[in-house]
Amino acid sequence: GGLKTLAATHGITFGGVAKRSAIDNDASFRTTLTREFNLVTPENELKMKFIQPNRKDEFLWGDADALVNYAQNNGLALHGHTLVWYKVPPWVDSTALGEREAVMKNFITTVATRYKGKVWAWDVVNEVFNDDGSYRNSVWYQAMGTGFIDKAFWTARTADPAAKLVYNDYGIETVNAKSNAVYAMIKGLQAKGVPFDGLAFQMHIKQKGLDYQSFADNMRRFAALGIQLYVSEMDVATDSHPATAADLTAQADVYWNILDRVLQQPAVKAFQLWGVSDKYTWLPENDPLIFDAAYNEKPAYAALEHRLQTG
Ligand code: G3I
Repeated sequence: GGLKTLAATHGITFGGVAKRSAIDNDASFRTTLTREFNLVTPENELKMKFIQPNRKDEFLWGDADALVNYAQNNGLALHGHTLVWYKVPPWVDSTALGEREAVMKNFITTVATRYKGKVWAWDVVNEVFNDDGSYRNSVWYQAMGTGFIDKAFWTARTADPAAKLVYNDYGIETVNAKSNAVYAMIKGLQAKGVPFDGLAFQMHIKQKGLDYQSFADNMRRFAALGIQLYVSEMDVATDSHPATAADLTAQADVYWNILDRVLQQPAVKAFQLWGVSDKYTWLPENDPLIFDAAYNEKPAYAALEHRLQTG
């Protein structure tokens, strides 16, 4: 049962996000996660800030191992998040420019090798563009220019040849300046023969939704590049908290519409939510998920279920 079973009939995996504290302390969270989902992203535990918080020669594996092992033992495929991001631990900010390529490659190699064979897809590179399509001025960009992106994908492929290698970003769901920049980047990677498997649309959106036609058009142009597509971090922020009945209906409608367009695009292989219940979310004032804080199904759950039940 659960949404994962319905999603499987459409050829997609159905994912949520988890953090170690919820896995360890909340039986209802565990029950819901394993009943409804067959894919999970560790919310923070695989980030550089968590694994390598203090210095170059110290890796802290406790939380990361706990999440990876939980996924392995409970039939959940793993979406690794994330190898290269502009949000870095403070010690990285202090490194010399000439040191940073080695720092980046060491993190990728160490983490991806440790979990080799256990990760279905890696967010190799996360959020490198500004909303206007220009490159974000990160510690990696400062040191290597755009070349850090190529180097990251090559390094990840060497460390874990079987994992899908993904670029993940927000605000790129429709055709806009930022998604145009991502499109150009991917074409560039492909022209250079850089290993690249897929693009993830995070899909952090609001209850007013987005331009669904533009979302479908955008997916179509990326699919034409021969890559996989994913919705990786969907949540829908309501305007009220606790959300009114009208806002919950509007939220359900947005979930339905996004899933509907996803199911019409065969390149999409996963549909993932950035959470399970409103009990744990980065948007506690916006009730953005499909279960309420007491693990009751919200209208958004019924909307996804109904859409998955139709062909
Ligand atoms: O663990 C520390 C704790 O020890 C400390 O006392 C506390 C005080 O601030 O901070 C805790 O760390 C927080 C961490 O979440 C775990 O709760 C960080 O401050 C906080 O910044 C961090 O926020 C996460 C954020 O990414 C930044 O890494 C959110 O949980 C997480 O949902 C959010 O997820 C991002 C994706 O990675 C990328 N896409 C957007 C998405 C939403 O912003």
